[in-house]
Amino acid sequence: MKVDVLLGLQWGDEGKGKVVDVLTPSYDIICRFQGGPNAGHTLEFNNRKHILHNIPSGIFREDKLNMITNGVVLDPMVFKREIDSLEILGIDLTKNLWISKKAHLILPTHRILDAASEAAKGKSKIGSTLKGIGPTYMDKTGRNGLRVGDLDLDFTSKYEALKEKHRKLLMQYDYEYNLDEEERFFDGIELIRKFKRVDTEYAINRFLEEGKSILAEGAQGTLLDIDFGSYPFVTSSNTICAGACTGMGIAPTTIGEVYGIFKAYCTRVGSGPFPSELLDEEGEKLRDIGKEYGSTTGRPRRCGWLDLVALKYSIMLNGVTQLIMTKTDVLDTFDSIKVVTAYSVNNELTDQLPFDLSVDVKPIFTELPGWETDLTGIRVKEQFPKELNEYIRFLEKELKVPIKFVSVGPDREQIIEM
Ligand code: GDP
Ligand code: IMO
Ligand code: MG
Repeated sequence: MKVDVLLGLQWGDEGKGKVVDVLTPSYDIICRFQGGPNAGHTLEFNNRKHILHNIPSGIFREDKLNMITNGVVLDPMVFKREIDSLEILGIDLTKNLWISKKAHLILPTHRILDAASEAAKGKSKIGSTLKGIGPTYMDKTGRNGLRVGDLDLDFTSKYEALKEKHRKLLMQYDYEYNLDEEERFFDGIELIRKFKRVDTEYAINRFLEEGKSILAEGAQGTLLDIDFGSYPFVTSSNTICAGACTGMGIAPTTIGEVYGIFKAYCTRVGSGPFPSELLDEEGEKLRDIGKEYGSTTGRPRRCGWLDLVALKYSIMLNGVTQLIMTKTDVLDTFDSIKVVTAYSVNNELTDQLPFDLSVDVKPIFTELPGWETDLTGIRVKEQFPKELNEYIRFLEKELKVPIKFVSVGPDREQIIEM
């Protein structure tokens, strides 16, 4: 069997949580392979909304195994909060959630370092979610990190040594902090001890041999990738498909379908370049209708038109085999829809992302007629308005990958297979 990968093709928040929940019945195992609690993945069903940060979006489907694999950075405090709130709903995850021993832990001091670093950057701040992601991955690559497997070793002294290193680093910043959250961190650690902690790479490869089907759930989006995103305004992990290989311990040859998910328009939260951003009423309209406020931080998301230059780049980097378009219903009341088909950089037309996206990039738009129809109740593609079919055909021709699902609302039921 192969591992299918689902990942975001834009700047995150494409609706990954919802779609993973929809696809989960076809899989045995769901794995989160990178990122951490900077992610906020929303699922809606039975008139209830759930937002997940650390935990894979397969957990609401019974009898599925979920894994937090080695590429993830795990915050014990956030983890406990999530587990506690799921327990209230009667969901006990101690049996069907496994955690990699090699996943790195986010310490309270990582979060403080994140905040201190952002404060020091002033106007040029990344706009981080302040969940400690950058400092934790820095300790991972700097070979100082604390891992889940260390819980069974000399955990306390390793923790104290890393905390001390952080304390010295923090002296370089003029930043006031306290360690009030340390107790809750250790409560989280005790909770993690109740979960099965394994070498998930062995488990995953064994499951594949046994013929089990696996879906890998990406976090963030391709344009936030540490190598290929709009650096330095990116996150600290490889969000692209290759990140599933390193983040799970699977060979590239085990990758099957690559589901690339994108919004019918574009959003970005935090700082950094955004060529198709709308700073006018149209942008506000997208934000209002799309309820574009961060699932993790509540910050308003910046909105703009769909950018095919960026989308083609993401499709190329990930080897996308199937596209999934979400939030299509948000465009229901627009009489015309714009799409970026090229950039003008220094007065030259290009279909490639420049090295530095923050140079003077002028988007070149193609305009298509809107469908001006309420899509939210539609469940079969035969009921699609003609303009939506034209929009889909236009995108498929440009992107050269089929759109396999169209999402028309936040609920689990509001999705159409093409
Ligand atoms: P993720 O991080 O990729 O999982 O996405 P988020 O959960 O952060 O943000 C997506 C938001 O859009 C959530 O509030 C979802 O409930 C919502 N959503 C997902 N798909 C659709 C859709 O097709 N239409 C609408 N209107 N909302 C959607
Ligand atoms: P999901 O999985 C949207 C953004 C932050 C910031 C930059 C760096 O829900 O799609 P970090 O906290 O990683 O240091 O922040 O990346 N960012 C996200 N934006 N969705 C996310 O995750 C994000 N995770 C990080 O806003 O600009
Ligand atoms: Mg999100």
